[in-house]
Amino acid sequence: MKDSAFAQYAADAIKIVQLTDTHLFAEPSRTFDGVDTEVSLQRVIDLACENHWPPDLVLATGDLAHEPLVGAYTRLRSLFNGLAVPVYCIPGNHDDPTVMGEALPSPGVHLTGSARRGRWQFVFLNTVLRNADGGHLPASELQRLDKALWAEPDLYALICLHHPPVMIGSRWMDAIALDNPDEFFAVLDRHAQVKAVVWGHIHQEFAAERNGVHLFGSPSTCVQFRPRSDEYRADTAPAGYRWLVLKKDGTIETGILRLGPEGASAGGSTPRA
Ligand SMILES: [Fe+2]
Repeated sequence: MKDSAFAQYAADAIKIVQLTDTHLFAEPSRTFDGVDTEVSLQRVIDLACENHWPPDLVLATGDLAHEPLVGAYTRLRSLFNGLAVPVYCIPGNHDDPTVMGEALPSPGVHLTGSARRGRWQFVFLNTVLRNADGGHLPASELQRLDKALWAEPDLYALICLHHPPVMIGSRWMDAIALDNPDEFFAVLDRHAQVKAVVWGHIHQEFAAERNGVHLFGSPSTCVQFRPRSDEYRADTAPAGYRWLVLKKDGTIETGILRLGPEGASAGGSTPRA
């Protein structure tokens, strides 16, 4: 067995695997756009176990269920518990935050507003609008974010939400992004310790920077969406995950790893400071 790629980093760096848009069903063998989402998720987990394991925590950034039924969350709970590392979850537009809040949490699977590891604070936001694919941050979430950041000025911060707060250049997807990004960034601009924002929803890799804050979107563990497409199109890129290393000086390294055609690693890691 090869060494984990995380082994090269300092022991006090925070190592993370992001699994997003798992779109799990309540029943086995159901498919989303021809992909068995449970099989695909398991293959991506196996890939992470071969390359970036164990992380200090897993981020699961929404659309965890395809249809928000109790059975989908209980199956996911058991799968996540099997990882034996803490998993922090937020809802996406395919999730029902209430059902998810009742069926998913367990000692190793968390739905919480924030968390702390070493020199880093994590803030988890709920952008879900009832019966809508797009997202919104209500005043209560914006205030909670602001308060969490004021409370820990000496910790670097990484913010997680499902919907992207920036346009990614794909017309149909940009129409269902976060609808009040200016209010979100107004909060971030008051807190110099914010280093990164990480999201799901777009089922593709994305990286940008705004005022010194890294902005990262990530591939789904199942179906991929074609970048820069005006309308919905599945992409041929394999499923994958993002890894991140948060260092004690506030810098970040990250990259994407995808399945190969037979489930083997396809490489494609793109470190980014
Ligand atoms: Fe999704």
